[in-house]
Amino acid sequence: MTRVRRKVAVVLAVTAVLAVSACSSGTSTTPAKSGAGNTKDVEVFTWWAAGGEKAGLDGMISVFNKTCSQYTFVNAAVAGGGGDKAKTLLANNLKAGNAPSSFQAHAGGELSDYIANGQVEDITAVFKAAGLDTAFPKELLDQITVAGKVYSVPADIHRANMVWVNPVVLKKAKLDPAKAPATVKDWIADLAKLKAAGVATPLALSKGFAEEMLLESTLLGDLGVEKFNGLYDGSTKWDGADVTAALGDFKALVSYSNADRETMDWDAAMSKYLMPTDPATATGGYQLMGDWVPAQLVSLKMPESSYMYWPAPGTDGVYQWLSDSFTLPKGGTNPEGAKCWLKVVGSAEGQKAFNLVKGSIPARSDATSEGYPKYQQWAMAQWKASKLAPSLAHGSAGPGAWNNDVQTAMSAFSANPDVATLQTTLVAAAGKYSNWRKTLG
Ligand code: GAL
Repeated sequence: MTRVRRKVAVVLAVTAVLAVSACSSGTSTTPAKSGAGNTKDVEVFTWWAAGGEKAGLDGMISVFNKTCSQYTFVNAAVAGGGGDKAKTLLANNLKAGNAPSSFQAHAGGELSDYIANGQVEDITAVFKAAGLDTAFPKELLDQITVAGKVYSVPADIHRANMVWVNPVVLKKAKLDPAKAPATVKDWIADLAKLKAAGVATPLALSKGFAEEMLLESTLLGDLGVEKFNGLYDGSTKWDGADVTAALGDFKALVSYSNADRETMDWDAAMSKYLMPTDPATATGGYQLMGDWVPAQLVSLKMPESSYMYWPAPGTDGVYQWLSDSFTLPKGGTNPEGAKCWLKVVGSAEGQKAFNLVKGSIPARSDATSEGYPKYQQWAMAQWKASKLAPSLAHGSAGPGAWNNDVQTAMSAFSANPDVATLQTTLVAAAGKYSNWRKTLG
């Protein structure tokens, strides 16, 4: 297999550096849910509070209600794309000894933070009892395993490096919406054509993690997969001339986006610019976003014919992956009920009910594409045939503290798009964290 295998196993020797991220933010905590303390309640913490994301969670809950009928599901979702608000609240709740029954964490670097902090239980026994030790691809198992111990159950695989296209808008500049520009530079040229044709927002963009995703896909497109992956293990230098050139391209891309990007989340930008209620009246041409988009568009009742999609320019053949997984927190409420939830998360039935409506593909290797919408059928084939790259914005490439530093740099860049300042900040962040894989073995 030509996949680049990103080994993140053996997270035992995680440094104090990693521990910073889960404890670094504010002091607010969520109050215990009214049901907490009721031995039947299983309180599950996610950031899937609306739209296609909630639909996915609801699918999983429906299987839980059937399979774990002795328990009551308590939905502790906290809204905010990419988990920006949720992760801060969770960190504070865990610190305050107020853990839910189970919480969402990305496989890879993000999970390693919780392991390093001693906040999640070893669930190897639960995993084995449910027959999950042979259910997932080895690459994914490596991301949730530390020194032979398993710490979470993966629910899905999402792809980050995707561009969503409004065909009606592209036709205004006589661009073929079905044809992806081959390179980042070609994409910039097409954005210029859209602008010249009077399109107000060639590229719809939103704050925080969405800007970081655009940055990562620009680096991936310009540097290629091997060099890109090297950014996260120290083998590619963040101060290189090739990174400077990619940051110049990132600046050009951002210049074609909406000025109010810092005021909105990805779904709001999508509804405002790319896919308003009537997509024929859209003022936005493209949006780079993960493949939770098709589920969102289903929830908005947009027909599949109203949009197109392709891998971000220069990244065809690469699956920039991330995986949502669920944990058993130390000291969480109702651990037995939580184990029932984890079994559902890992089960073929639970994964189907969830992924069918979430836009993602099942993490289990035995899943078939039968019954899935067109996008996911394509994604399943792509997952098998592509090289892999991780995502810092969604926790697979590195620890949360690194992600936080880059997101801070994103809002600074949005206000003052200076390439040299951005590169200096990225170099400094990598200096603090890029050794993490080596430390982990
Ligand atoms: C990601 C998560 C996805 C989706 C997305 C947007 O971090 O893995 O499942 O929820 O955020 O909120």
